[in-house]
Amino acid sequence: MKINKMLVGLLTSVTLVAGAAQAAELSVVSGDTGNGLAFLQEQLEKFEAETGHTVTIVPMPSSTTDQFGQYRLWLAAGNTDIDVYTTDVIWAPQLADQFLDLSEAAADVIDQHFPSIIESQTVNGKLVAMPAYTDAPALFYRKDLLEKYNKEVPTTWAELTATAQEIMDAERAENPDMWGFVFQGNAYEGLTCNALEWVKSYGGGQVIEADGTISINNEQAAAAIDMAASWIGTISPEGNLAYMEEESRGVWQLGNAVFMRNWPYAYALGEGEDSAVKGKFDVAPLPAGEGEGARSAATLGGWNYAVSKYSQEPEAAIQLAMFLSSPEIQKERAIKQSNLPTIEALYDDQDVLAAAPFMSNWKEIFQNAVPRPSAPAQAKYNEVSSLFWGAVHNTLSGDGSAAENLELLEADLSDLKGDAW
Ligand code: GLC
Repeated sequence: MKINKMLVGLLTSVTLVAGAAQAAELSVVSGDTGNGLAFLQEQLEKFEAETGHTVTIVPMPSSTTDQFGQYRLWLAAGNTDIDVYTTDVIWAPQLADQFLDLSEAAADVIDQHFPSIIESQTVNGKLVAMPAYTDAPALFYRKDLLEKYNKEVPTTWAELTATAQEIMDAERAENPDMWGFVFQGNAYEGLTCNALEWVKSYGGGQVIEADGTISINNEQAAAAIDMAASWIGTISPEGNLAYMEEESRGVWQLGNAVFMRNWPYAYALGEGEDSAVKGKFDVAPLPAGEGEGARSAATLGGWNYAVSKYSQEPEAAIQLAMFLSSPEIQKERAIKQSNLPTIEALYDDQDVLAAAPFMSNWKEIFQNAVPRPSAPAQAKYNEVSSLFWGAVHNTLSGDGSAAENLELLEADLSDLKGDAW
């Protein structure tokens, strides 16, 4: 008896010591919107309990542009402090060399994900990051206000403009803070997403086409951007020129906008207890433009987990990336954060559809979503995007017409391209 007890005690301490020797201290860097970081923290606690590893979150600003600038510096300097990076869908071709190949770790689960998303994270055969969720924006609209004024959900931008103006003007009598439409108009990656949608919805192409051709200097593209410029100071506040996702959600969630363009994360937050629009809104596909090739267009977004090649704990870090992209976590994300899963089976999951009924339609929308030209522009994508959002921001600010700014943009993009991307 005594000996047995001693033996058990001995074995326990051996196990603890062995466990401790394997326990890694990891860090994951992440910018997020809404309560995304609190959600991540909850998931990390589960990971810590399951594995014995500890994980620290290094929080970043929510602007993907600011994150990218910082990550590029850290990675170029071979920073060993960060093990796992939360990465935007557009970064894979630019940062591929700095991350470990996850193909082997993901071999058994890769088939659960939509092939197009895995493809977007694969560069020259290397799986650069594991998908956490995909993104395709929606037109958020106030059901109660459309009903009150007997209006349909707009299916063209012209309808949206007219309906937004009419309801805003009428509502101002009671609510002087009311606006018609809010979106992401700051000079950053989010404006590239919004503007690509306007341009594509007018049949104006994708800035740079899949074969590398620079297509942005065309009449439809100019018409699309001039239309957006007409919103500033009419249905959208001047301040919209500085809005990112969270600023537009702030106006919307206080009940001060008829329409909002935003990503699905704003759905769960809008339905939250503290939201002034809880139960009063729904989502629809973004409106179509006008002219030949007009259609509804959504820019493809999404976030992933990548493992730094400078990590001192690569095995544990890979384990973390796999955990955070697993079906269990993606399901919880879909329910609590209304983020779109990258695992196809979750679109038939009853719990997911009960929490976020819009997702049954969004499977098709994100599969038809328009990619930003990060694949053709490769390492130069960030410069391409910043030239594009710069030209659009100038136009929205009244600094030159769209036609003038797109002509200059075309020249700048040609210089940047040189002989080839
Ligand atoms: C969302 C998208 C991301 C995009 C960003 C722009 O987070 O998922 O892909 O780059 O918005 O602000």
